[in-house]
Amino acid sequence: MTARHGAAHHGADWRAQRRVRLDYTNLLAAAVGAENGVSESELGAMAPRAAAAVSRLQQMRTSGQVEWLDLPYQREVAEQVVSYADGVAARCDAFVVLGIGGSALGAIALQTALRPLFYNQLRSAQRRRRPRVYVLDNVDPDFVAAALGLLDPRRTVFNVVTKSGSTAETMAQLVIARERLRAVLGEETAEHIVATTDPEHGDLRKLAEAEGYHTFSIPPTVGGRFSVLSPAGLLPAAVSGIDVHELLAGAAEADGYCRDDDLWVNPALFNATAQYLLYQRGKRITVMMPYSQRLRDLAGWFRQLWAESLGKTKTVDGKIVSIGPTPVQALGVTDQHSQVQLYMDGPADKVFTFIGVDRFDETVRIPAAGLGRSSLDYLGGHTLNELINAERLATTLALTANHRPSCTFLLPEVCPFTVGQLLYVLEVQTALIGFLFGIDPFNQPGVEAGKVATYALLGRPGFEAQAAEIARQIGAPRQMI
Ligand code: PA5
Repeated sequence: MTARHGAAHHGADWRAQRRVRLDYTNLLAAAVGAENGVSESELGAMAPRAAAAVSRLQQMRTSGQVEWLDLPYQREVAEQVVSYADGVAARCDAFVVLGIGGSALGAIALQTALRPLFYNQLRSAQRRRRPRVYVLDNVDPDFVAAALGLLDPRRTVFNVVTKSGSTAETMAQLVIARERLRAVLGEETAEHIVATTDPEHGDLRKLAEAEGYHTFSIPPTVGGRFSVLSPAGLLPAAVSGIDVHELLAGAAEADGYCRDDDLWVNPALFNATAQYLLYQRGKRITVMMPYSQRLRDLAGWFRQLWAESLGKTKTVDGKIVSIGPTPVQALGVTDQHSQVQLYMDGPADKVFTFIGVDRFDETVRIPAAGLGRSSLDYLGGHTLNELINAERLATTLALTANHRPSCTFLLPEVCPFTVGQLLYVLEVQTALIGFLFGIDPFNQPGVEAGKVATYALLGRPGFEAQAAEIARQIGAPRQMI
């Protein structure tokens, strides 16, 4: 495995200055009390199990079962992605992702974090002549119709993303988009569809071959929610001009420290172990709250990663456990005026992950207007940068004083290198806590059950028995008004 060229052209100092740090002070019993925090001795006692979780993951890696761990090193794929994306940028104004769940949320997180905010509203020159990027991750007819209404098919490329190649929502959108394209472009339709799917299996792969779509692959053992660093996330990112090589370099950097089996060195392992211990003592809710508008959707991506990976009925050896911490997405400072009252005074069943940013791209000064009002004048001369970080610290301190455990990921800045690290750390953290819970973090039987029910309800051949069962279950609904 070779590190990608972007990492190579930055020296060790540049990389060290952009390391994502984990501040775990307020997860410790010393900060929030023995009932609500973890002690160093408890962590020490967990160290052998924690180390075993790392070696299990690395063994799975060696036997090719978790290819998402190696996505940071797919240099050739990244180059193909960039080259295709540059071609799209040269001929199109809009790039539309059709996908859902793990096949959309990574792309959304990258778009929000790493392209200019309000990107789609900027003029072409401000977007460096890159296309607008939309992600249609719902089949609400109002949403889809409104989005399609914005687009000129001649200047649009649709990127259909589905690992299984058969998800109802995504396939419905594909058929709708294809028909719109054919009405205007006829034979040229195939040039306006690019498919990201399993390298061999699934109906989308077959359709793409039959119709001549350009394709990218999601490696066989990379599930949707672990696919953000595959072409599922990389292609839309590259289309809007995000440096995907830097993103992968960041992930490779994190791989360096996420392989360590010492929980005092490996932040993914530390957090997995601490959150596992806290779950046992009733912290059943995991709140992620970035103090950065750009990282808002990264918390949305994490919510799905955590929920779908960890919410399981059975352990791997078949014991019924019905386990899984409930993830909550919040945004600082916005949700201080929405959720924090509950976080402070409600049930002590939560553990918080804050994300802070040292250096924002912009510095916005608050003018010292001298208005003679105490609620205004103390702000003058400060910056919004100071205000947002003071509010993060204040919330953390207040929660700590109220015995509510939290940790904080600190990003020196929001850039592809730091975001790549954070995504990778959170993926590894999720896999490791899954192993500590004794469940399989890589399957999603609950989602599959919903997919099957949808196929049955809409009359897909092969699902007749399920359709009959659903008809029986529905029976006579009891409704009001
Ligand atoms: O993370 C997952 O595996 C799921 O959320 C899937 O991404 C989601 O169900 C969509 O599946 P697919 O990519 O097969 O269309």
